[in-house]
Amino acid sequence: MSISVEHISKTFKNKRKPEEPAQVLKDVSFEVGEGEFVSLLGPSGCGKTTTLTIIAGFQKPDDGKIIVNGKEVSKPGTDRAFMFQNYALFPWLKVGENIEYPMKKMKVSKEQRKQTLKELLEMAQLTEYENHYIHELSGGMKQRVALLRAIACDPQVLLMDEPLGAVDFQMRQMLQMQLESILQKKKTTALMVTHDVDESIYLSDRVVVMSRNHGKILADIKIDLPRPRDRTNPKYHDYVDQLTTVLKSALNGEVYTDDDKDLMEFIQGVESGK
Ligand SMILES: Nc1ncnc2c1ncn2[C@@H]1O[C@H](COP(=O)(O)OP(=O)(O)O)[C@@H](O)[C@H]1O
Ligand SMILES: [Mg+2]
Repeated sequence: MSISVEHISKTFKNKRKPEEPAQVLKDVSFEVGEGEFVSLLGPSGCGKTTTLTIIAGFQKPDDGKIIVNGKEVSKPGTDRAFMFQNYALFPWLKVGENIEYPMKKMKVSKEQRKQTLKELLEMAQLTEYENHYIHELSGGMKQRVALLRAIACDPQVLLMDEPLGAVDFQMRQMLQMQLESILQKKKTTALMVTHDVDESIYLSDRVVVMSRNHGKILADIKIDLPRPRDRTNPKYHDYVDQLTTVLKSALNGEVYTDDDKDLMEFIQGVESGK
């Protein structure tokens, strides 16, 4: 399954200044090939989540279209799974029940559900947590459960919005390894939104950089490194340097609105190599 984003535009009403609507996306195009893992990298507020939710079919572009496997997207569909930043797990269900939920909705037989659940839990080393409730898990575990639920029905496309944004640095690296090994096994086509340069290089076949200039795509870079990636490889650092430079230009020369603080933290994070 491939994703093709074709010339999409999106303008939002500005509640504070109704006379100045905000054009977040203007004629944005890029592609994700079958089985590819692509990161959409960009500073906060540049329109990444908007793009991802348009691909998911949660909202419509004003212009342009999204083609998933040859068909135009008009609404959400089970071919595209969405993994949210804040897990969106059901607190009243146990881990196993959360993962089974989409399979039940898709009317997968009980036998098949149990089989898939067993395999998924093993893959993510969560077997012993099958009967735990969500509040009993660490942030990293919740994130893994959210991933397993998202891929339980074998979606052709997995859309992830900063899936590891809420976990601390060490846990993040471990989850990146697990996410990679799970998705490489499944060969799922994946598009991940992130503002983390290192994460985008570690996980992606290609990194697409979006700027605050109406979501203009500034770069589309193929990460040509063997998997799993070795962070000590000098070529890995070349990619870090290259993408950090592009990201800076994604920030430069733009008009900023209300989150200058976020922005400064972001630039400092980039410069300290975080
Ligand atoms: N439903 C909406 N109504 C009005 N403005 C919105 C809406 N959704 C997003 N925006 C604005 O669009 C811009 C891009 O948002 P978003 O796509 O969430 O950025 P990112 O995910 O890159 O941080 C932001 O300025 C945000 O405030
Ligand atoms: Mg976002």
